[in-house]
Amino acid sequence: MTEIKAVLVLGARPQFIKSAPVIKQILSEHKRIHLSLIHSGQHYDPEMSEFFFRELDIPSPSLNLQAGSGSHAVQTATIMKRLEAPLLKMKPDLVLVPGDTNTTLATSLTAVKLCIPVGHIEAGLRSGDMTMPEEINRKLTDHCGTLLFAPTQTAMSNLREERLDRVAHLTGDTMVDALQTVLPIVQKREDIVLQKLGLQQQDYVLVTLHRPSNVDNHDRLREIQLALSKIASRHTVVFPVHPRTHARLARLKNRGSGRRSNTILTSPKGYIETLSLLKNASCLLTDSGGMQKEAFLLHVPCVTLRQTTEWPETLVGRANRLVAKPKTIPGAVHEAASDETLRRRIKRLRSRFGDGHASSRIAKIIERTFGR
Ligand code: UD1
Repeated sequence: MTEIKAVLVLGARPQFIKSAPVIKQILSEHKRIHLSLIHSGQHYDPEMSEFFFRELDIPSPSLNLQAGSGSHAVQTATIMKRLEAPLLKMKPDLVLVPGDTNTTLATSLTAVKLCIPVGHIEAGLRSGDMTMPEEINRKLTDHCGTLLFAPTQTAMSNLREERLDRVAHLTGDTMVDALQTVLPIVQKREDIVLQKLGLQQQDYVLVTLHRPSNVDNHDRLREIQLALSKIASRHTVVFPVHPRTHARLARLKNRGSGRRSNTILTSPKGYIETLSLLKNASCLLTDSGGMQKEAFLLHVPCVTLRQTTEWPETLVGRANRLVAKPKTIPGAVHEAASDETLRRRIKRLRSRFGDGHASSRIAKIIERTFGR
């Protein structure tokens, strides 16, 4: 049997989650695929990186490029420069890239220019907003791809429109696989997670914000801060603060964590704790891509502080609503959090993200394509 040499390059928090089920599937069921992991070092704080490898029970990468932070050009170029030599040495049959971060794009460009086939996990997502760095990363990565693993029918249609359907496969979403794996652990631990923060089920709003378009602009961040204090006048707010947001808030002289009136600011949480907090929230306010979908899958009403979404499936039945102006956040959040029937309605909606077997399909497609 031919051995298939594959390298998976990952570097940012959501990529660890998306990749975990694929890594585990390949390591346990597909011995023909010899998989190596490389960490770009894009996320480097233990709570943004190391912690996730332990929690998701995936092996530590054999190499860390330690690219760290920087402007888009610096981060992308550093990863490319540091990845080229290892790829030349390893000579893989395939390089796998998950998601849409700068690590995804830098890896795809490096591999495709070395004529190494690229497999994109979570291909075909489009928000239509080219001011979003991730939209550029997604589009370019898909166009470098030899194998495109699309999570949804919408993603497949997007790829068809860009004439990429020849190399596309509808696999389902690996984040569904990840969620299904940890859900029993979440169910065991959620009470303790809530107790630790003094929270009651469905009695608080969970907030996550990290997008440059929201937090990098001083005036906009002030407006958001004002909106959050308005929400806190009616609901308890739980806000695990991303390092980028933490740094920007510090400039507004709002550093630190702890409990302030009705707002609980914490450091970033791990996967299980985040899912426990999300599952029991009355509403999620976010600008993350993945969390919009996790809210949908856990039947939690979501308000997204963005003009567009790459997950339009979540907008069905007002399960998720897009809010562009910070001023309108408190009203939208209050409405979503207090609508007694919304959660029940979301529960009845059909999931469009797959059946929890995306990773197995991805591994089989790799074997079929490269194992001859
Ligand atoms: C990146 C991804 C985004 C993803 C997000 C998840 C891109 C373009 N963006 O955004 O798609 O949703 O990850 O978190 O790739 N920092 C730390 N410690 C860390 C990592 C970052 O302090 O471990 C700080 C640094 O000040 C850094 C900032 O956070 O400048 C932002 O990190 P960066 O890697 O640029 O991207 P994210 O905003 O996290």
